[in-house]
Amino acid sequence: MSKLWGGRFTKETNKLVEKETASISFDQKLANEDIQGSIAHVNMLATTGTVTQEEAETIVNGLKSVQSKLNNNELAFSVEHEDIHMNIEKFLIDEIGPLGGKLHTGRSRNDQVATDMHLYLKKHTEEIIELVKSTQEAILIISKENVETILPGYTHLQRAQPISFAHHMLAYFWMLQRDKERLIDSLKRVSGSPLGAGALAGTTFPIDRHQVANELGFDYVYPNSMDAVSDRDFILEFMSVSSIMMMHISRLAEELVIWSSQEFQFIELDDSFCTGSSIMPQKKNPDVPELLRAKTGRVYGNLIGLLTVLKGLPLAYNKDMQEDKEGMFDTVETLEASLMMLAPMIETMTVKKDNMKQAVSEDYSNATDIADYLVTKGVPFRQAHEVIGKIVLYGIDNQKYLLDLSMEEYKTFSDHFEEDIYHVLAPEQVVANRHSFGGTSQTQVKEQLELAMQAMNK
Ligand code: ARG
Repeated sequence: MSKLWGGRFTKETNKLVEKETASISFDQKLANEDIQGSIAHVNMLATTGTVTQEEAETIVNGLKSVQSKLNNNELAFSVEHEDIHMNIEKFLIDEIGPLGGKLHTGRSRNDQVATDMHLYLKKHTEEIIELVKSTQEAILIISKENVETILPGYTHLQRAQPISFAHHMLAYFWMLQRDKERLIDSLKRVSGSPLGAGALAGTTFPIDRHQVANELGFDYVYPNSMDAVSDRDFILEFMSVSSIMMMHISRLAEELVIWSSQEFQFIELDDSFCTGSSIMPQKKNPDVPELLRAKTGRVYGNLIGLLTVLKGLPLAYNKDMQEDKEGMFDTVETLEASLMMLAPMIETMTVKKDNMKQAVSEDYSNATDIADYLVTKGVPFRQAHEVIGKIVLYGIDNQKYLLDLSMEEYKTFSDHFEEDIYHVLAPEQVVANRHSFGGTSQTQVKEQLELAMQAMNK
């Protein structure tokens, strides 16, 4: 099969080289973007007089027909034509004859591939932003239902202070909010048009890069042709933001795994999000959150992979850059699938409020509150801390929680204790008392929910 660039060659390409240098097996995902870019390019060539209106129309119609044939699986890509750009150009020439060869006037695959990548990533970033919103919605729903649900809050995975379950879940809402803001911000940079940069130095043809950018929905044109064809930092930025987001998702996933264990039993995931064991009939495994936790690895890997590919590359285009694609596709697909599973999994999980409550009544997580109580009675905090430490030790030795100790027992530790201590120590009260801005009190959490809903509409 003859190559589109075959003119200067005297030998056939080695078959293994042909296979290994080709990118068609993966860059065929860019077919729609490639055709979209080509249509904008040829329309511009007509406006600026490089091809006639009629020629442009024939080429555009040819491209559209190639696109519909591709959608109907009527065309087969070939490794001989290396990548999506040359495969489509070949299909076009097969469709409309030698006129198809005019399409590539005034451009190079270097600005073409960069354009395809920007179009692809812009579209998917917008989609992912919507998926993040759906996940935030799911968190809002479960939070609204659980403002009054109390469970132990942890530090070092040791019970620390009781909190509202809504407060715990809303923490993830805000992480996702920042991730979403980072994605929205990245749209500014992914919205640049490299087309018209040519191979690296621009072109001799009278092109109009702004017309092309407008037609493709880009916000600006890269001002430097060499930067335009060799920039891949818009992909790195997406991968960095994605890595941070997957890290957040993996933390939430880990909590879901822990909470659904027999030891915790704070939640139960819906059957439709779990799988069984091939040997142990009693098992209901939280595979989905486990996989979400694990998928973080490939998203980080894709980032590090591309950073490494680009490091030390001289300007402008180098074939190394073809390695930007699989990692980007994989990150997009991983993120989309992860978010698509996460939202309904949160919406359908059962919150076992009684078990959470039970847990709080069987621990010392109200200890800080007795310390604070003594402080309100005039005892310096450090001294109060010491006294309560002794009370906790006494409780552990005598198998009693703080609410179980009698007034006589309290009095042996400090004269300042009065009957009102029992009110202060009740879990609902412990939570209610943390009403500083951003705290876990039911009133603060309700205000936080308002802020979260406002943030969603921004
Ligand atoms: N398949 C190539 C890539 O993805 C397209 C650009 C090729 N340009 C070139 N001069 N070989 O990077």
